[in-house]
Amino acid sequence: MALIIDGNKTAAHTKDMVRGRVERLKRDTGIDPGLAVVLVGDDPASKSYVSMKERDCAEVGILSFDHRLPADITQGELEALIDELNADDAVHGILVQMPLPKDLDEERVIERITPAKDVDGFHPANMGGLLRGNDVVHACTPLGVMRLLEDYGIEVEGKNAVVVGRSTIVGKPQALMLLDKNATVTIAHSRTENLADLCKTADILVVAVGRPHMIDASFVKEGATVIDVGINRGEDGLIGDVDFDAVEPIAGAITPVPGGVGPMTRAMLMQNTVDACARRIGYTK
Ligand code: GUN
Repeated sequence: MALIIDGNKTAAHTKDMVRGRVERLKRDTGIDPGLAVVLVGDDPASKSYVSMKERDCAEVGILSFDHRLPADITQGELEALIDELNADDAVHGILVQMPLPKDLDEERVIERITPAKDVDGFHPANMGGLLRGNDVVHACTPLGVMRLLEDYGIEVEGKNAVVVGRSTIVGKPQALMLLDKNATVTIAHSRTENLADLCKTADILVVAVGRPHMIDASFVKEGATVIDVGINRGEDGLIGDVDFDAVEPIAGAITPVPGGVGPMTRAMLMQNTVDACARRIGYTK
């Protein structure tokens, strides 16, 4: 029987803390933290993520500025909006929901955002700062995983951590964050040989590959902590990358899907936004 890591609970607790900080910041400075949320096109999953992010903003007292743009917007028009948001003092964070329609260049859009307002932590200056161990904005999903590990008292230092998946938004920054906490980190991916054997060496196994139920009991060491970042859409709802029912009996701790990492991504976005606001106005309390 594994400990079930409840992301809804930790996210609620994190948002309570953010709400408290927002209230103090408003009381002391009269400034409302503001997040601009940009959605291009009408992908249903992206629409639903954006709505949830806006609801989170309302919950914690962050103003949200909603920008919904048609899928056929040009690169220049989108970048002009980013320039406007960069220059707007009411906007402390900018989130452009990914993926963008295929005719738009995501890299150029990300690079256009002022790094201090890049609350996703995707800008090369923030990614590079993470690599260098600087105090920069960290990507929300891997940051949320770190918060879960901390909240549940799961020791990271000296442990073997295997991160399955090498994406720029999860796998790579996750590996760096675990390394920063003194784990011994391996990044595995689709070309890794003997993946199950490697995963079985993990004290902490983080899976972010986007393949439903790819990780079964044969990948997991007895007592390991298993963090499932997968959000795959099945006929009956969301399906993780980990086969929860098969893995739970041997794991020491495990995140469910839904209700594990997902809510944490949004909670950390709220935290990054209030941090960005506080940094911008020099509020240090
Ligand atoms: N699409 C999937 N995850 C994310 C995220 O964390 N931020 C943004 N902007 N888009 C995403």
